[in-house]
Amino acid sequence: MHSTLRLAAAISLASLFSLSAQAADSKGSVEVVHWWTSGGEKAAVDVLKAQVEKDGFTWKDGAVAGGGGATAMTVLKSRAVAGNPPGVAQIKGPDIQDWAATGLLDPDVLKDVAKQENWDSLLDKKVADTVKYDGDYVAVPVNIHRINWLWINPEVFKKAGIDKAPTTLDEFYAAADKLKAAGFIPLAHGGQPWQDSTVFESVVLSVMGVDGYKKALVDLDENALTGPEMVKALTELKKVATYMDPDGKGQDWNLEAAKVINGKAGMQIMGDWAKSEWTLAKKTAGKDYQCVAFPGTEKAFLYNIDSLVVFKQKDKGTAAGQQDIARKVLGEDFQKVFSTNKGSIPVRNDMLADMAKHGFDACAQTAAKDFLADAKTGGLQPSMAHNMATTLAVQGAFFDVVTNYINDPKAEPADAAKKLYAAVKAAK
Ligand code: GAL
Repeated sequence: MHSTLRLAAAISLASLFSLSAQAADSKGSVEVVHWWTSGGEKAAVDVLKAQVEKDGFTWKDGAVAGGGGATAMTVLKSRAVAGNPPGVAQIKGPDIQDWAATGLLDPDVLKDVAKQENWDSLLDKKVADTVKYDGDYVAVPVNIHRINWLWINPEVFKKAGIDKAPTTLDEFYAAADKLKAAGFIPLAHGGQPWQDSTVFESVVLSVMGVDGYKKALVDLDENALTGPEMVKALTELKKVATYMDPDGKGQDWNLEAAKVINGKAGMQIMGDWAKSEWTLAKKTAGKDYQCVAFPGTEKAFLYNIDSLVVFKQKDKGTAAGQQDIARKVLGEDFQKVFSTNKGSIPVRNDMLADMAKHGFDACAQTAAKDFLADAKTGGLQPSMAHNMATTLAVQGAFFDVVTNYINDPKAEPADAAKKLYAAVKAAK
């Protein structure tokens, strides 16, 4: 069954609106479900909470731990089925359309705010389209993350005798070998499915290039998913996996980031929310750590746009709170402070064009420059691992096959490529 129908069927079993009791206060309260729970990410979301509370609303924090958001999505579905969705929730990419099709999202609540604040001109069309349903905004975009990054501790590199950041897969392996020989963990990595697929998609991009990535992970083309380039990408993935932290099974991404920050590991392949942990540890980009594009992906940007959807609610106070959150989120001040803490870049075009003026660091300036340049060349592509390219059902198919492949010592790349296609086809 198509995922929209699956979601709708589950939800129609329940009454859509139960009046969840809202905390009684003068301006109303709004519950926000999200998965920003690492130390650095919490600092980022606390910025929004403080701004909304300053405006007199009560922020009910609906944080659900679990990187990548799979647990948060499960919680959200059961809340919707129970007729008790929160006022605001973190949902991304094509899933927004699926949720909107169920009729649970509110197409009216953001209308005036979007008009008054000129969202259409503030946002890139690609960004705006992601958060609109039938021409109306049903979500507010918060920030843009890049996935294909490699995070490096330069002091560890120096101790291992490595003098520069790798720019090819071969240089990556050479650096990893040196790190291993010097007694460091070459690649910090938490073996959770979404983290495995974060590495997988960066390797696919490196081996297959932008066109190959798009055909395989966005268009889900059979030839691209099963062909020789995918087999090569899977072969490289297996090699990359040999350098992963042996204690990383099931580890959270931020605990693995800490190993690079503390000098136990040399590198981590992770989206730029990893920077939030470096920032929290008071480390400076370009000095205490390096952010470089994953080898072979310099001319591409796998994007991940965080956004907050608004669910229909009966309580009028909630609508005011939802609107306040939306207004704050796209404000210049929030865009700067949140992304500075979160490691992302703003969604506003005017800010992306002048990052230095807003005091963003070297990593963020590079990200914004590449985002704008890659948007022109086609190098800007949606991340599969972070819900931007496919529905959650198709993403789940990728996650299963990739994680099994990484963990099965007998797995063959050609066979895994066939399994990828079969699983994706069944999930479509
Ligand atoms: C992503 C999300 C990021 C970050 C990351 C780790 O899906 O977009 O904002 O939270 O997961 O949990």
